[in-house]
Parts: sequence; structure tokens; C-alpha cells
Amino acid sequence: MPVPPAGFAVRRIGPADAGALVALAATDNLFDEDPGTAPSGTITPDGARHFLADPSVRFWLAEAGGQTVGFLHCCIQRRRTPGPWAELLLMEMGTHAEWRRRGIGRALIAEMEAWMRRNGVAEVWVPANTYAVGFYRKCGFAKDEGEILVKELH
Ligand SMILES: CC(C)(COP(=O)(O)OP(=O)(O)OC[C@H]1O[C@@H](n2cnc3c(N)ncnc32)[C@H](O)[C@@H]1OP(=O)(O)O)[C@@H](O)C(=O)NCCC(=O)NCCS
Repeated sequence: MPVPPAGFAVRRIGPADAGALVALAATDNLFDEDPGTAPSGTITPDGARHFLADPSVRFWLAEAGGQTVGFLHCCIQRRRTPGPWAELLLMEMGTHAEWRRRGIGRALIAEMEAWMRRNGVAEVWVPANTYAVGFYRKCGFAKDEGEILVKELH
């Protein structure tokens, strides 16, 4: 196991950082609950640029010693009803398996919340996997009424 870096920094990435997203895709299994699974698959630099240029996408990386050690991806959802203009859907986040429990996940959530405060967004939703529920609770998330359902077309 590598010696962990002394510190890490979180930054929001955009289209100019497509290379970081391409690199992440090659090893994103290491950010999953089970790092033994396969990575999500190759993405092209153009595909990564288009994704990061999408106005509904917000993406933060945590980096240490030139390596990605965590990421958070959320999506801006416009609201139909009065009140804040939008809410966030936290689509995906992960901390590298060897760097968990060092405050990286909490720091990513803090950056997302700082963006929310600056932009008048008051609510964030996450379809959490069971493994991560304790983490989200520590970060102030609470269970909502109802269930999240999914349907996959074949
Ligand atoms: C969930 C995850 C992002 C947490 O990241 P992390 O960098 O380890 O989290 P932090 O170190 O910032 O932890 C913040 C707090 O949550 C707690 N915590 C972290 N993971 C936890 C877990 N799985 N269960 C319960 N508590 C947890 C920490 O102990 C810490 O508590 P403290 O501040 O009182 O000490 C990380 O475990 C991960 O990548 N999991 C695999 C992918 C995943 O499940 N993503 C979420 C998809 S919905």
C-alpha cells in the first residue's frame, strides 16, 4: 500500500480537464465499493470534453501528489415550482479505496455545498448505496419519505 500523501486539494474541473476524466475512467473501479470490479470503460477525450461542458454537470476532483484520490459528480435539476431555481442530484462520488476515512469525501461534499450556497441552491438528493449511507448521514443527509425506483429498458 503506498504511503498516503500529506494533503489533498479539491477543485472543480471543466472541459479543459478532459484528460483527468479519461484517466479516471481507466481505474474508477478503485473508487467503487468493491475495487475488484472492472473499470467503467474507456472514454474518448472528446466525449470527456462534451460531458464536462454540459451546463447541468458539476464535477469536482480531490487530488494528492498529482493523483486523483476522490471525485464527486452532480447534476443540476431545474425546478418547476416556486423557491430555489434548481436542486442538485448527487449522481456519483468515490474516494480511492486506499485513501478512505481521511476526510476526502467530506471535503468533496463541502465544495459541492459551497457551490450550492453561492448559487442559491438549497437541496441535494442522493440515491445512496447501502455501503455509503453512514457516510452521507455523517455529512448531514437524512432519509426522505418514499422509495427511489428504477426501470431499465431491454
Ligand atoms: C462513501 C465514501 C465516498 C466516503 O469517502 P471517505 O473519503 O472515506 O469519507 P470521509 O473520510 O470524508 O468520512 C467522513 C465521515 O463519514 C464516516 N464514514 C466514511 N465512510 C463511511 C461508511 N462507509 N459508513 C459509515 N461512516 C462512514 C467517516 O468515519 C467520517 O466520520 P467522522 O468525520 O465522524 O470521522 C467512500 O467510502 C467511497 O468511495 N465508497 C465507495 C463508493 C461509494 O459508495 N460511493 C457512494 C455512492 S452513492
